Amino acid sequence: MRDAQPKTIFLSEYKAPDYGISYTELHFELFDDHSLVHARLHFKRSDHASDTATLVLNGQELELQALALDGETLASDDYELSDDFLCVSGLPASGVLETTARIYPQSNTSLEGLYRSRGLFCTQCEAEGFRKITWFPDRPDVMSTYHVTVDADARQCPELLSNGNLVQSMELPGDRHRAVWDDPFPKPSYLFALVAGNLSRVEDTFITMNGRKVRLIILVEEKDLDKCAHAMDSLKRSMRWDEERFGREYDLDVFHIVAVDDFNMGAMENKSLNIFNTSCVLAAPDTTTDAGYQRIESIVAHEYFHNWSGNRVTCRDWFQLSLKEGFTVFRDAEFSADMGSRSLKRVEDAMVMRTLQFAEDAGPMSHPVRPASFIEISNFYTLTVYEKGAEVVRMLHTLLGEEDFRRGSDLYFDRHDGQAVTCDDFVSAMEDASGKNLSDFKRWYSQAGTPELTIRDDWDAEQGVYTLSVSQETPATPGQSDKEALVIPLAMGLLGEAGNLRLTLDGEAPDPESADNTHRILIVDKPEQEFRFSGLPECPTPSLLRGFSAPVRVDYPYTREQLLALVSRDDDEFVRWDSLQQLMVSALQELQAEPHRVSLDPLLEEAVNAICSQSLDPAVQADMLRLPSETYLAELASHSGKADVHGIFRARQALRQALAETFRERWQQLFDSYRVTAPYAAIGEQIGARALANVALDYLATGDEQGVSLAAQYYFSADNLTNRLVALRTVLREGDAALGDSLIDDFYARFKDETLAMNHWLSVQAENTSGDSIARVRALMEHPAYDSRNPNKIRALIGAFANANAVHFHKHDGAGYRLLGEVVETLNEQNPQIASRLLTPLTRWNNYAQGATLMRAELERLSELPSLSPDVYEVLSKSLA
Ligand code: PHE
Ligand code: ZN
Repeated sequence: MRDAQPKTIFLSEYKAPDYGISYTELHFELFDDHSLVHARLHFKRSDHASDTATLVLNGQELELQALALDGETLASDDYELSDDFLCVSGLPASGVLETTARIYPQSNTSLEGLYRSRGLFCTQCEAEGFRKITWFPDRPDVMSTYHVTVDADARQCPELLSNGNLVQSMELPGDRHRAVWDDPFPKPSYLFALVAGNLSRVEDTFITMNGRKVRLIILVEEKDLDKCAHAMDSLKRSMRWDEERFGREYDLDVFHIVAVDDFNMGAMENKSLNIFNTSCVLAAPDTTTDAGYQRIESIVAHEYFHNWSGNRVTCRDWFQLSLKEGFTVFRDAEFSADMGSRSLKRVEDAMVMRTLQFAEDAGPMSHPVRPASFIEISNFYTLTVYEKGAEVVRMLHTLLGEEDFRRGSDLYFDRHDGQAVTCDDFVSAMEDASGKNLSDFKRWYSQAGTPELTIRDDWDAEQGVYTLSVSQETPATPGQSDKEALVIPLAMGLLGEAGNLRLTLDGEAPDPESADNTHRILIVDKPEQEFRFSGLPECPTPSLLRGFSAPVRVDYPYTREQLLALVSRDDDEFVRWDSLQQLMVSALQELQAEPHRVSLDPLLEEAVNAICSQSLDPAVQADMLRLPSETYLAELASHSGKADVHGIFRARQALRQALAETFRERWQQLFDSYRVTAPYAAIGEQIGARALANVALDYLATGDEQGVSLAAQYYFSADNLTNRLVALRTVLREGDAALGDSLIDDFYARFKDETLAMNHWLSVQAENTSGDSIARVRALMEHPAYDSRNPNKIRALIGAFANANAVHFHKHDGAGYRLLGEVVETLNEQNPQIASRLLTPLTRWNNYAQGATLMRAELERLSELPSLSPDVYEVLSKSLA
């Protein structure tokens, strides 16, 4: 690594700011070739600060045009200006500091600060983008009210928006106009937003629980007006749900959602002016999959819920990011569970945790839910902070129960309204509301890594006593070698011949939540402990980690007979799903060891039969019948050794083939009975049925010509993107190249003007393992449907290739690694946040026996580049350490 190394920032070095800014006046003059930002900061020295304290303002890529204190231009020895800061000394205890900055939104490719997306002016300030707009103490513990004036060309920018309420609008000379916005709620700078451009509106209203009327406005390009209904419905459902479930009411008279095409993340919760990636708002049957509809619903909800968990109560510093994100993801997950199927949502979240978050926990970027240090905060918008953070909140909910949890959440919002606080404050509110001591539980916030529970059992037939011995261990992670025991709620039951058994646990009161007494939450909080169940009529099969009650791995030596019993008869759908996955995993492991094995394990066969013949929620059934993903199998393999992606790929093909042949009639039956014939609607019933019919179709087409032509017909007759994509993927995998190409061309002809559909078109081709994927991806990089500056396109093509086409990404000659490396190299300058995210698959080099050397070599090559961004530098240096 060369040059000056970026600095590491530590949580332990947190200091409260010396100055607060109580009121911020901003005046934007937006022009085509530059913009001017006039700021008036009403500052006040904090009580703890010394009289001579310096006011430290962040500022990057700003040109200073004017600087004055209380109306007087500042002399040059009263301030110091550098690339990153403006420091002003000799200040009175309070006053007004005025600055004018000149900035260039049209050439801002980082999509942070003020930038232009298809002509539209928009901002992204979280986490540290506000400093690219004006000088300011750009840290979340400085909260201010904002008064914002926006001037722009009236024809180019008919819409001028910022946070809060519109207080004035007027025409200006020279075809320009002005809008003035006032946000009465104090907020940190990361929640500031401005939008100016030519947008069309969809409007609706919501009446809050106290009868206040709120205007709901979604702003999109005119061509997309017909794609907003689903987001608007989702918003109204979210608002009602937050009132009912959390007692939270919306607090302003207007709420905006703006859709932009160029956006680094999914969406952003700016106060009353949420800005969304178009992919997370716009929905239409031809351009959005069922999963896409569900994702829009949950992201709209997520951003809306931030209005309380994030905005009204915010984070003291960025180490506390999970305070708002973990809690808000928990809230949106509960919302989705209430809107749809609870166990389905649980299975899908568990899949994400086990496939992706466990891998992060085991990789070089491993960090706790509350990191203790970072170089670049943008690198910490992770599965650990978001999803594991939400699991930590879920465990609190499990330990406290719904009632006390709600009391704790009410206390938290009440106690800290208008403040910037820490994860400790959140847990304290939970403690105070419940009377429980959670000090040991808090280790979940500071300890990285995935705990592993090793569970063994003993059956005393004479006494009818069944004993579970549970030990826990969390593996060492970078910078954390010794781990303490965590408090782990282990939900469980015991399965007998005729169903789940009644539980009597030595020394514990029955679980009040379960009336039938067959379900228990064991509190695992020591390195080793035993749980004894007495009065049992038979030796049971343990049903463990029900509902994925904690983000842990479980090691229990199940026999296949036991797994079959759980698949067929357990009460918990997560355990049933997981048990079938385990049966498939062990079949796949055998196939990997013995590639020519032909016969399907009869117990797996019976388990699949059981799932096919029972009346379950079809969406859950579909998840059960799907093969474990290559990514999940690679994660499992690297946990106990090294992953062989080529072996995994072949084993999956073989198992798919075996299941396809063994159950051909079943697949046909399922396909015929679940195939949706009614016109498309993104409603739970149809989504579940489609999922199951489509899993069946995929098996039907496996190694079968008739099945492939069925898939091709299905493609052409589809009235929605979900079916069309399933059919297209299946044909690309199973059909001949000419047929595949013709469908790709057909798709392009149909949807070339729909950029969101084109993203799927790019992904399908990047993930296609037949033929020369690398050449195909390189060719697509030159295609008009691609845009090397648009994050959605980059993710759709390059991200899909590196994350979902393992056999070509891990080609033995390293060409896949080089392709990714080249893209990261260009992005390092253009858009460092996307560059460093894209790097993730390469950082996992240590998981692979074959690729490790070449993967490392590519990382090393990148690390020699001049002028690495802090984002990319941090990921490279940690991966190579
Ligand atoms: N705070 C946003 C969310 O989770 C995510 C985000 C982070 C968006 C940083 C943009 C930039 O909802
Ligand atoms: Zn969020």
